[in-house]
Amino acid sequence: MSDLFTNPVDFDLAVELLRTGAICAFATETVYGLGADAGNGDAVLAVYQAKQRPRFNPLIVHCADLAMAEKIAEFSPLAHRLAEFWPGALTLVLPVRSTANICDLVTAGLGTVGVRIPGHKQARELIRSVGKPLAAPSANPSGKLSPTSAKQVRLSFSDHVPVLDGGECTAGIESTILGIIGDRVVQLRSGALARHQIEQKLGHGVENAKQGAPVSAPGMLASHYAPRAQLRLNASRARPGEAFLGFGEVNGGENNSLNLSPAGDLTEAAKNLFSHLHRLDATGAKTVAVAPIPLSGLGEAINDRLSRAAAPRK
Ligand code: TXA
Ligand code: MG
Repeated sequence: MSDLFTNPVDFDLAVELLRTGAICAFATETVYGLGADAGNGDAVLAVYQAKQRPRFNPLIVHCADLAMAEKIAEFSPLAHRLAEFWPGALTLVLPVRSTANICDLVTAGLGTVGVRIPGHKQARELIRSVGKPLAAPSANPSGKLSPTSAKQVRLSFSDHVPVLDGGECTAGIESTILGIIGDRVVQLRSGALARHQIEQKLGHGVENAKQGAPVSAPGMLASHYAPRAQLRLNASRARPGEAFLGFGEVNGGENNSLNLSPAGDLTEAAKNLFSHLHRLDATGAKTVAVAPIPLSGLGEAINDRLSRAAAPRK
């Protein structure tokens, strides 16, 4: 049997590819990213093309350390405070420095840049070895499920995209994105860093992004993270022919049934969300019924991804 995964790139080749303007997928603790030198317009264009991503949707720039991040973005004292979560699953949208070597396609001309230092050691070593910040959206075709393993990246893009295998993502859901307006902190996307942790550090609340506000994440589209199958949310059991994604004690399916966390643990559920959806999608079921997930803690991000995955598609 032919093995789709016989040709993963090793660390040195990944460094070489990224240094010389090619794209390469790599692991972060949240989801796999499809990386390119953020200063190389052709490389970044290749990322947009591989993903078929709309050009108005800017990319997150991944840095190895704070010194690298400070070369591309302006940090206020409040931004520095939030950067204490790094390395980790937090993206800060900050004013881009005029001297930053970041191509316009990365920022979609917004005047701000999304920056993050990933918690995955291999990712930081990769960026350090390349010696430049890496622009990297999630390594999936635009609008589809995010990948949490090298195998899922390969299945999404076949052999067109080289992948550095960094194991299974430990968080399993994308970073939380925060914007800063003066002394206000606005959550542009819920994610793997829970709101209460941010609020605890700040000592006050984090606002939600509003439509038409001065800062927003252009990528927050109603339909996103979509499996091939339709999703039916807040289901207590599968209807005939449906696959079932359970949580806690809600195990509503006999066939094609997986549970995000039998113990009802939201951290475990976030880690399993995309990989379980990939697996249930592969069963060929037309619909996946999904158990209710509480809204507390990481449940905010899980419910956000599920509602976009269930939204009507274009
Ligand atoms: O965990 C993650 O954040 C993963 C890993 C690979 O780091 N990346 C990721 O990238 O989720 P992507 O491209 O799938 O989502 C990036 C989001 C989009 O919604 C985009 O609109 C927003 O970040 N974004 C990027 N730069 C921005 C900026 N300057 N202003 C506002 N939103 C921005
Ligand atoms: Mg994405």
